Amino acid sequence: MQVNQSLKNKFIQLYGEGEVVISSAPGRVNIIGDHTDYNEGFVLPAAINFNTRVLARKRNDNYINVVALDINNEQVSFELTNIESGEDGTWSNYVKGTLLVLKSAGFQFDGADLLISGDIPQGAGLSSSAAFEIAILKSFCELYKLDLTGIQAAQLGQKAENEFVGCQCGIMDQLISALGQERHAMLLDCRDLSYKYANIPENLAIMIIDSKVKRQLVDSEYNIRREQCEKVAKHFSKPSLREVSLQELEQNRSLLDDVLFRRAKHVITENQRTLAAYDALNDENLALMSKLMMQSHLSLKNDFEVSTSEIDKLVEIVATELGEKVGVRMTGGGFGGCVVAVLPKERAEVLAKKVLDKYLSETRITAQIHLCTAEQGAFF
Ligand code: GLA
Repeated sequence: MQVNQSLKNKFIQLYGEGEVVISSAPGRVNIIGDHTDYNEGFVLPAAINFNTRVLARKRNDNYINVVALDINNEQVSFELTNIESGEDGTWSNYVKGTLLVLKSAGFQFDGADLLISGDIPQGAGLSSSAAFEIAILKSFCELYKLDLTGIQAAQLGQKAENEFVGCQCGIMDQLISALGQERHAMLLDCRDLSYKYANIPENLAIMIIDSKVKRQLVDSEYNIRREQCEKVAKHFSKPSLREVSLQELEQNRSLLDDVLFRRAKHVITENQRTLAAYDALNDENLALMSKLMMQSHLSLKNDFEVSTSEIDKLVEIVATELGEKVGVRMTGGGFGGCVVAVLPKERAEVLAKKVLDKYLSETRITAQIHLCTAEQGAFF
């Protein structure tokens, strides 16, 4: 509340007195199921207690004015009728892209004054960009009474990222940011977008360990992975790897390039693990979660090749400390970023301390640890 009040004051300082509408959308952590979403597979993420907030007020013209509080109060203005992409990686491209796809989808709205602020660590793989897109969409739904479902919002956010920002991401991040549920993870079928929630047991903590190694080459390597997966699907004349079984893949091993074989093997086995993890979470079976998450990590490391030595180090430290009392793996797109661990709450404090100490002594890097809760999405 206090945060909102001080943001409101800031907004009024910038744009003058009047009504201010506050919207927000959460980041996410993926418990299991990585690089499966764009292969029409399964994912099991949760929305977390880190958010992007958008403060907004309607304008009577076509202008959008945006100030990014956390990026040195950088200011961008543009006209809705003339949206052009700025330099690569510019934060304002997310606003522009999102509003462009919203307009193209036939929604009617005019301009707005906006102030953006948030506490999702950037470049850590916790989906600050998806939360940004969803928060902007939520904000325009509130301002202009647009009737947008959570699924539609997720699809538009993904479209903005694919077509305007240039990352060929799947739909997981936007969808969980829109439709996450408090104290639950979501099993999402990325083929038909059906979903169901798994209760996160009261006694379990979700720990996110930020390796503090900024993610690099993310978009280019990510897009390459996606192309490789699509190549294998094409080899089988299937629309996606979801339609290819492990047995079919094994039978075609000699016909496929080794790298392509391993990429597809990751995706197909990760789908199986994700379904099993949903049941394990519901059954409060931590030993099974532990096994599945470790298999997932090794598959992402060895077959999909998206982990880094620092992330592997963190996983090793956590697993060595708690064995089958913890599920631990890299989370998200990879190439740096964060590790997720699921463990009994009473073990969290001691583990956090040990991880920080060991990681520092072995890598000379100070990690950052967040104990997270699963939260509600912007369109839930
Ligand atoms: C990024 C993408 C998602 C998903 C993950 C990997 O977060 O935005 O769509 O592909 O990587 O699971």
